[in-house]
Amino acid sequence: MGRHLAPKLKSQGHEVICLSSSQCDLRKRESLSEYQKGQFERIYHLAAWTQAGTFCDLRRGEQWIINQQINTNVLAWWHEEQPQAKLIALGTSASYSDALPMSEENYLKGVPSDSYVAYAYSKRSLLIGLQSLARQFGYRYLYLVPSTLYGPGYSLDGRQLHFIYDLIRKISNGLLYGHEVVLWGDGHQRRELVYVEDFAEILLHLADSCDNEVINVGAGESHSIREFVQLICDIMQYPHEKIAFDTNAFTGLRLKCLDISRLDSLMPDRNSTALANGLRRTIEWMSEAQNQK
Ligand SMILES: NC(=O)c1ccc[n+]([C@@H]2O[C@H](COP(=O)([O-])OP(=O)(O)OC[C@H]3O[C@@H](n4cnc5c(N)ncnc54)[C@H](OP(=O)(O)O)[C@@H]3O)[C@@H](O)[C@H]2O)c1
Repeated sequence: MGRHLAPKLKSQGHEVICLSSSQCDLRKRESLSEYQKGQFERIYHLAAWTQAGTFCDLRRGEQWIINQQINTNVLAWWHEEQPQAKLIALGTSASYSDALPMSEENYLKGVPSDSYVAYAYSKRSLLIGLQSLARQFGYRYLYLVPSTLYGPGYSLDGRQLHFIYDLIRKISNGLLYGHEVVLWGDGHQRRELVYVEDFAEILLHLADSCDNEVINVGAGESHSIREFVQLICDIMQYPHEKIAFDTNAFTGLRLKCLDISRLDSLMPDRNSTALANGLRRTIEWMSEAQNQK
């Protein structure tokens, strides 16, 4: 996300300081001390220690500790050193309970899916922290809940990939090396995607116009994995009937689709990249990234 947001902020004329874990390990409170002298207008807190697939399930203990450390350190730094700044933070659709509609008033209600519970509660804690500091001290924040982001610029190496990159990679390996393409689940589970450049534009607009709110940012429509596969196969010219589905594999939730009526009311005329166009750009970028290795 930061890779897409920073150039947009710079092109608007802002001075932007970008942090990565190599220069600023947010698990350690003192790592932010060298950034105490400047007075920032905005803090975009995008950091989280997470991956897709089974990561949140299998690494839940470490994830709980690390994300709590990161979030607490960022909030403490905001409170102690940068209270004039507006803090923009990102939540997760995994925080929603499966039993309730995914609309903002339910974000802190019910119990999230067990596979994501530590990640989900660390993101809920982040929101409670923002709300508490804003209520007690009058600070300004914005908390956006994205559905799954996709597009060029994703970190592909050494991690479990979000499903769309995993689909593209598997189909690409089928095309290039003749590998059997086996996908997780029956393919009827449904997912929602937001093109990352669209998300960055929405984030910038809402950061300027909304205070102390939780806002879902999604496409407002879901597609089955089989529909995504069909589109990818059409773009890559791979015969989709050769694809097999492993119904015993981990699939996550059956349906993930955010209620975006609040976003629609705030930005009724926003531009959205058509799924086929976004997928084409993502596939081309992944192919170039693969060729550069
Ligand atoms: N991608 C999605 O579909 C999605 C959906 C919902 C919510 N979100 C949320 O949106 C935010 C951005 O997502 P993303 O896809 O851009 O994630 P990402 O590619 O995994 O980036 C996360 C960033 O967090 C940084 N980070 C992790 N541990 C850190 C630490 N100890 N100290 C400092 N930085 C640390 C990483 O830095 P390094 O790269 O330097 O290690 C990385 O730049 C996250 O909060 C995520 O929870 C994402």
